Amino acid sequence: MSRLIVASNRVADLDKAVQSGGLAVALEDALQSGRGLWFGWDGATVEEDEASLGIKLQQNNGIRTATIPLTRREYEEYYLGFSNRALWPTFHYRLDLAVYEHSFLEGYRRVNQRFAQSLAALIEPDDLIWVHDYHLIPLAEELRLQGVKEKIGFFLHIPFPSPDFFTAIPEHAWLAKSMFDYDILGFQTSTDAANFVRYVVEHADGEALSDDRVRAFGKTVIARAFPIGIDPDSVYEMAHTPEADAHMARLQRRSMANMFVLGVDRLDYTKGLPGRMRAFKRLLELHPELMKRVTLMQIAPPTREEVEAYTDIRQELEGLSGSINGEFGDFDWTPVRYIHRAIPRATLSALFRASQVGLVTPLRDGMNLVAKEYVASQDPENPGVLVLSKFAGAAEDLQEAIIVNPYDTDEMADGLHRALTMPVEERRERYDALIVRVRTNNVATWRETFLAALKAAPSETTS
Ligand code: G6P
Repeated sequence: MSRLIVASNRVADLDKAVQSGGLAVALEDALQSGRGLWFGWDGATVEEDEASLGIKLQQNNGIRTATIPLTRREYEEYYLGFSNRALWPTFHYRLDLAVYEHSFLEGYRRVNQRFAQSLAALIEPDDLIWVHDYHLIPLAEELRLQGVKEKIGFFLHIPFPSPDFFTAIPEHAWLAKSMFDYDILGFQTSTDAANFVRYVVEHADGEALSDDRVRAFGKTVIARAFPIGIDPDSVYEMAHTPEADAHMARLQRRSMANMFVLGVDRLDYTKGLPGRMRAFKRLLELHPELMKRVTLMQIAPPTREEVEAYTDIRQELEGLSGSINGEFGDFDWTPVRYIHRAIPRATLSALFRASQVGLVTPLRDGMNLVAKEYVASQDPENPGVLVLSKFAGAAEDLQEAIIVNPYDTDEMADGLHRALTMPVEERRERYDALIVRVRTNNVATWRETFLAALKAAPSETTS
């Protein structure tokens, strides 16, 4: 049986895997059942001259991990620089925030090279290699240079932008060419896969063949959508424990408002948080009868604080929540509760269940699993309503949510009002349709379909 080798920038702390969610939950089963290995950065930065750049092999909760640190310079150029100042904003359609510096690109290349050198030594014949996300796009190219002939798949967790945006990256041709060293490329949505194909045809002199295959640079690769999902049963269970009941009761007891609109996002400029607060303000202006009855609870843990754009968004949000509370709040009611901290997953599940509205309005998002977790946490008899941005990947599937344009404050305020006043019959109807989709496109389906496609992909590398 072939082993599964997962490579991603970060390797989750597996002792905390269940609390942290994300890729750890998605891959846990596959890594435990095969004799898998998870490779990536250990989260530490070390001095350039330090002799401790070697691999650390560990076993946690039945999963083997192989991790390496980054030097301070690599961290700045590869992680903060090319990954999060160039690729992240560009792929999320924010060219105004993108910074392209030659040193960033060089650092990105060097780290992918070092990752490949460390990983190649651990690969055995017939291993299946699955590379994740924008930090490691050229990893397959570097692994091939190291002589790796095994099948390598790639999954992009963030959007793949339209060619107009992708071509803004000075080295876009190099980046695209490196993607043809994979056997299969997985995207979140059919729009992302189509954007990639369009780039290849329009800018790389390539050709779209049948069966999701594209040819360019003398190579063929499969480009297909594999929408990522969650484990709906475990999310539902977490939202229905006695502790969750206690959390809900405490929330209702301590609050004057009896309705909650909940948002949960890393404090990232792609998440549309200022727009969300403006929409809530508009809701209160248009419907003063909702004063003291509804509270917007926004949980936004810090992220990438060393990147300037993230400091700016934090200031903007603090200003906005303060001004809304100052203008509308009263001694017995705080309209906006803004929490700039990570909250344990079990508490979050209780909050999902206790909230009448899940407000998920990113300006652009690969998928957004909060939308799916919100649906999965609801009580089928008395479900809350999901208000979802049309620019979240999840909207391709979750059409029975109230779909809104996150750039349109009035439309969002109207969506919120519809959600807060929706009769229970309609709430149930929408929930029934949504939960079927969340269950069908779950995380196990995502993982198994991707791995089956990777196994079945015709291998070109030995030719
Ligand atoms: C997004 C990316 C992930 C990343 C996560 C947290 O979800 O797609 O690859 O790990 O954000 O960001 P961070 O920079 O803290 O790893």
